[in-house]
Amino acid sequence: MSTTLTRPAAITEAEIRDYLSTGVRNRWWPVLPSRFIQTNGKPVGLTRLGEKIVLWRDHTGTIRVQADRCPHRAVPLSRGLNEGDRLRCNYHGVEIGTDGTVLSVPGQPGCPLEGKKAVKTYPSQEIAGAVFVWFGDALHEEPEPFTPPPQLAGGEYEAILCYADWEMFWRYLYDNNMDPMHGTFLHANSHTMYQGDTQAHFVTRDTEKGFFFEKEGQRDVNFDWSELVDDNALYVRLEIPYPPSGGPGGNFGIISFGCPIDENWTACFFWRVRKVQGWQRDVWRFLYRTRMEPRHWHVLEQDREILQGQRPGLEKFEMLYQHDAGLIRLRRHLVQVARKQLTELRAAGKA
Ligand code: FES
Ligand SMILES: [Fe+2]
Repeated sequence: MSTTLTRPAAITEAEIRDYLSTGVRNRWWPVLPSRFIQTNGKPVGLTRLGEKIVLWRDHTGTIRVQADRCPHRAVPLSRGLNEGDRLRCNYHGVEIGTDGTVLSVPGQPGCPLEGKKAVKTYPSQEIAGAVFVWFGDALHEEPEPFTPPPQLAGGEYEAILCYADWEMFWRYLYDNNMDPMHGTFLHANSHTMYQGDTQAHFVTRDTEKGFFFEKEGQRDVNFDWSELVDDNALYVRLEIPYPPSGGPGGNFGIISFGCPIDENWTACFFWRVRKVQGWQRDVWRFLYRTRMEPRHWHVLEQDREILQGQRPGLEKFEMLYQHDAGLIRLRRHLVQVARKQLTELRAAGKA
């Protein structure tokens, strides 16, 4: 008797597009600034990577992130109550513990739902003032470690978080960040990006966890380079040189994440970082709050206005040129990641 082995069907372009429409799995994503979640405060319901989640801070101050769905009748747990060590659904009072176990069904004590681990619980941690959540696929529910870049790890850097929801496909924020040339045009009237050539040739340089995309022959003049990092979290690092009037700390750095909400909205995180310590840190914070912050929002508004309303699928209308090599490479990388993840899921019978 012969056995026929059937190979799982290859992953199609359409499946990859669909998978990427709400982000990349098996990564840590920042979902919300920490300050929005208070100890013993109201639970907060969010959509991230197309999934409904509820965030709450228990009586010890620890952040908890769970699926925003009561196991009884599937209403949002975020409309329930934070009882300190558990969430209580407002509809019929079912109580859920921090690990997702049903602790009590007050309407019918002893019912089989009690003791069941019925609510998905997401690994989470707080870094540089934001809540990071691990979105793993069915084969990677346990998180990989995330080592934040030194700019977000405290120490010698000061990082100020700026957060906004933009109506835009998430990947276009990464495209924007991997496109240094737009600084010279879109932000030409900004206080720091008016210098440098309006023409340039770009080169890419590999790193262990990503790549640099940089202007050839021009450094520390304008927004001259971007670095994509994919190290169990996907982010872009860039620097903008500052004039002496911009205060201490040398170049002004930005660490940017665009956490997908769904395919039309993105939760944008921009950490503004400078290498300052001691009194310089105080000077920089003061300067930032009093003088720089409105200017930075103005620059971000220029980005938002140009990207607002951009839906997935615009690639078919594009005619790219050499300056777009960084984002082409980024897109290729994301397709490779998606194909690998989907292939593994399919081989395991989970996709
Ligand atoms: S729906 Fe939550 S307790 Fe009934
Ligand atoms: Fe920009």
